[in-house]
Amino acid sequence: MAINYDEIARTFHLSNKKISYVIGILPNGQLNNIYFGKKIRITNNRKNDIDYNYRVMHPCVPNQEEYISLNFVPQEIPTFGQGDYRPESLRIEKIDGNQLDRFAYQSHQIVKGKQSLTSLPEGRPIGNKVESLIILLRDNSTGITAELQYTLYEDLSLITRSIKVTNHSKDAIQIRKIMSLSLDLPDCHYESLQLDGAWARERYMQRNTLRSGDNSISSIKGASSAEHNPFIALLRPETTEHQGEVIATALIYSGNFLANINVSTFGITRLQIGIEPSTFSWYLDENESFQTPEAVLAYSNDGLNDLSHTFHQFINRFLINPKWQNYLRPIVYNNWEATYMNFNENQLINLAEEAADLGMELFVLDDGWFGERENDRMSLGDWVVNSQKFPNGLDKLIETVNKNGLYFGIWIEPEMINEESNLYKENPDWLIHHPQYHKSASRNQYVLDYSRKEVVAHIFDMLSLLLDTYPINYVKWDMNRYISEPFSLKLPSHRQGEFYHRYILGVYELYEKLTQKFPDILFESCSSGGARFDLGLLYYAPQTWTSDNTDAMDRLKIQHGTSIIYPPVSMGAHVSAVPNHQTGRVTSLETRANVAFFGNFGYELDLLALSNQEKIIIKKQIEFYKKYRQNFQYGKFYRLLSPFKGEETSWQVISEDQQTIIVGYYRFRRGINELNIRIKLKGLKNEAIYKYNNQFITGGELMEIGLILTPLELSEEGKDFNSRLIILHKK
Ligand code: DGJ
Repeated sequence: MAINYDEIARTFHLSNKKISYVIGILPNGQLNNIYFGKKIRITNNRKNDIDYNYRVMHPCVPNQEEYISLNFVPQEIPTFGQGDYRPESLRIEKIDGNQLDRFAYQSHQIVKGKQSLTSLPEGRPIGNKVESLIILLRDNSTGITAELQYTLYEDLSLITRSIKVTNHSKDAIQIRKIMSLSLDLPDCHYESLQLDGAWARERYMQRNTLRSGDNSISSIKGASSAEHNPFIALLRPETTEHQGEVIATALIYSGNFLANINVSTFGITRLQIGIEPSTFSWYLDENESFQTPEAVLAYSNDGLNDLSHTFHQFINRFLINPKWQNYLRPIVYNNWEATYMNFNENQLINLAEEAADLGMELFVLDDGWFGERENDRMSLGDWVVNSQKFPNGLDKLIETVNKNGLYFGIWIEPEMINEESNLYKENPDWLIHHPQYHKSASRNQYVLDYSRKEVVAHIFDMLSLLLDTYPINYVKWDMNRYISEPFSLKLPSHRQGEFYHRYILGVYELYEKLTQKFPDILFESCSSGGARFDLGLLYYAPQTWTSDNTDAMDRLKIQHGTSIIYPPVSMGAHVSAVPNHQTGRVTSLETRANVAFFGNFGYELDLLALSNQEKIIIKKQIEFYKKYRQNFQYGKFYRLLSPFKGEETSWQVISEDQQTIIVGYYRFRRGINELNIRIKLKGLKNEAIYKYNNQFITGGELMEIGLILTPLELSEEGKDFNSRLIILHKK
């Protein structure tokens, strides 16, 4: 790993074993974006990269003796109004209303580790494995500076980038747009991939042809959202899961975002990601700074699956809290789908005893335990134990849970408030609203104004008391609605544009304070399932509830799409009852577990209603998962067959030592009169020998000839929604 500056060519080259990122300084000081891709050696004459031709209708800026039209120059920080008519990455309004900036190189630093971002989640500078380049730029007309930070992570095919703007002028300024990443690419022969959906069908893969102009996705919901994940990729048309070039970006952020691919009619591409600009502005007084969230920029020349490995490793090694790295996550029992909010202490005790008997490890008490919560109209905001349901506080339940060898976890939704709550009686103005407009409810609840310090501090105190009082090992932090009527009673008019970002900073502040004070508590984030599954929250909470849809067949698509960026260990995946509560579909207990195994495994069905036969099956599933948990949670994950392409899905994990391979094969509707099925495995050593069904097969055979399964074996009892797990051990 190295970051070099060539003084003669005025070129920076960031590289590790896999990638190169090259930046040039133009004679006029502007930064030229030269290259991002597989590792290369570079020479020291980059002048030819710049297009000096004059084109009709295109204004030019001076570049020492020559003139260039910025519309055709690949740049690191494209700005507004000086001849580049593509989307800018930075736009700052000055006191006289002008929005022009021209940032020129001042100085740079190459540092071990990185300069930490203030109050934001980010790639962590772990060990000696991280190096950064910080380039200071200055707008000479105003003195405003922009500091770009690029970070390399040992052997990973990615960098992260962020910008910090500081107002060194005497007058206040207003940032109107600031993208964390802007990358210009010299051609446009790409397709795009995004992860789209809605509640209960989050992160479905969408591969699209690009059209000229903007191809964008965004969220203005106050959360990263179920509709579009803060991620976008460019793939060559011929790129598949296992071969071909792909460039992707994702934002380490949980609020409003914009990801845009601009294809110019001149056949070049600009890729950007950052805070959504139409719902954002930021006011800076003299000497104040604004720091953007960090963007990840990843590359692969070996297909989408390889790109996923890069993201998975980044998340597991550099994003999540080191405390939870390689930590084997416990098997959860969650009471939500068993009881919803209708439960009493005895019932929960019975469920906990049964969960322990079956071998589960963590009992999670979901929504309904606090205030006077009987239904979703009441008590959000009152984080005190419901004395009707728990006459003994939580003591008796937790004692039983612990006595039976289980950890205890609890559900909270700290960003929310119901009008029927003590919190609302005491602080009616803490809820996000505008006094002259109707307040829009969602699930009968409202969002607290986390842009206000006192609100965050109050909720922190309440939750601290709860977590100090009881031995709680796990917290599921939910968020069940998007923001409406965005307005803060406490912000002055010129700062209302800061509301959404300040809200998310408040969420991060609470996460930071709670995880600092209670470092041994494992947090799981959730948002009506997976409406806030993003890199920002994974920094604090190393796992996320993937979706409220627990139907095994639907989960194939959800988990498959989610795995494009997020590793299996980050995805909560539970076996639930049939008919499934979301889809009404009936699938076998085996299939439900076979899907959930490829995640952070658990159960959430009424254990007291299980037949003896079902209990026997569940016990075996739990034993099996415990035996192979390391593989499922931390093995290398491969997508072999896609649920978005037909009736079949197949996944594979290989243990780090390559000793064990587990293959899952899933079938939507049964086939008829079909030939054998061949699944070509991935990532094995050619000569390695594996044992399967008392036969010995080489890695090469498994990858090139395939693992062969008979259809008969697959359509067990002639049913639809079948699945098989195949385990291969190395000889
Ligand atoms: C939405 C979550 O996704 C569910 O798992 C459950 O916790 C409910 N909220 C509780 O209200």
